[in-house]
Amino acid sequence: MHTTRKINDHLVYLGGSDRRQSRFENLFPIPRGVSYNSYLLLDEKTVLFDTADESVGRLFFENLEYALNARTLDYLVIHHMEPDHCVLLEEVRRRWPEVKLVCSAKALGMMSQFFGADMSDCTLTVGEGDKLSTGRHTLHFLTAPMVHWPEVIMTYEEVDKLLFTADAFGTFGALSGNIFTDEFDFDKAWMDDARRYYANVCGKYGAQVQAILKKISALDIGTVCPLHGPVWRGGDIAPLLEKYQQWSTYQPEGKAVMIAYATMYGNTENAAAAMAGLLAEKGVRGIAMYDLSETDVSELAAESFRCSHLVLAAPTYNGGLHPKMEAYLHDIKALGLQNRTVALLENGTWAPVAARHMATILGTMKNMTVLENPVAVKSALAEGQLAALGALADTLAAQLCG
Ligand code: FEO
Repeated sequence: MHTTRKINDHLVYLGGSDRRQSRFENLFPIPRGVSYNSYLLLDEKTVLFDTADESVGRLFFENLEYALNARTLDYLVIHHMEPDHCVLLEEVRRRWPEVKLVCSAKALGMMSQFFGADMSDCTLTVGEGDKLSTGRHTLHFLTAPMVHWPEVIMTYEEVDKLLFTADAFGTFGALSGNIFTDEFDFDKAWMDDARRYYANVCGKYGAQVQAILKKISALDIGTVCPLHGPVWRGGDIAPLLEKYQQWSTYQPEGKAVMIAYATMYGNTENAAAAMAGLLAEKGVRGIAMYDLSETDVSELAAESFRCSHLVLAAPTYNGGLHPKMEAYLHDIKALGLQNRTVALLENGTWAPVAARHMATILGTMKNMTVLENPVAVKSALAEGQLAALGALADTLAAQLCG
């Protein structure tokens, strides 16, 4: 049975949600599932905007057949060639052999790589500023290279003020009938997943996201249609753009601290907990604390994008750094995180070097300020070290509460 929803009188939502796969890209945990969005414009010509993932393929075709209501499919606009959106392309062509594909020249090259067939005969390649009239509507194409693949385009439609954004403005999380951001409390129910999606999928590409934000700033946008998560409309769009402005310039969302620790027998965890208690006593609120062995690195990355200050605590391991801390630091470095203040706690029973290794990795990142006087625990936090821990907490609290 179809599950379509109307975006407006001419645009139909055809997407589907998957709650069975445990990981997105076989990498990021998705305990709330994920949606794969697709849209159909019904004008003098019919236009499908992207296909969907194989996992929702059956529903996607039921929705598409229903929405077309026996009309033919004239165009398929391919904003992005990652398989979670284009894997059904060949089946679309089999069912509607006359369909014209619309995509960037780079996407056309990727089609032959993914499908082993040259599709140039049935493809219209478009670039920045190109237009396509479908009758009452005109599609304006914008290029969005490296948000987050090189072939990505977006489409703006000025009559209904629609912006199709590919993965940008997407969110982890399955949809539950409500597909618009104004149909639920987005900040409460979705923002953590939106941030985690951004940090891990687009986080590395801040400069490219900035470029597309600049391009779309001139547009009158009423509805944002991404390839994952809810459809944004009306008053929800400005706060979304504000978040993207913060995230893409690597600015924290506000003054906040995350304490992330690796621990083997609980002693480093105890030092981290002592620091948390000292910070709380000094007035720091909303402290977020994570065990690196228990928390997926995608969540840690998202929290690192949210918070202004990081307290990192780790044991020395194999004469170097605990592997969970090392993996976390390499992840936030790969995502391009910048502009954070970091306090370090280390542990080592005979030769602690973890702080030096953490500082070395942080030193290769942009504008990361490592506070002086890291605390070195020898096996277990000693009473005599509380003053040193308190001094570090004083510095953090002054910045967080100031
Ligand atoms: Fe949702 Fe980059 O694919």
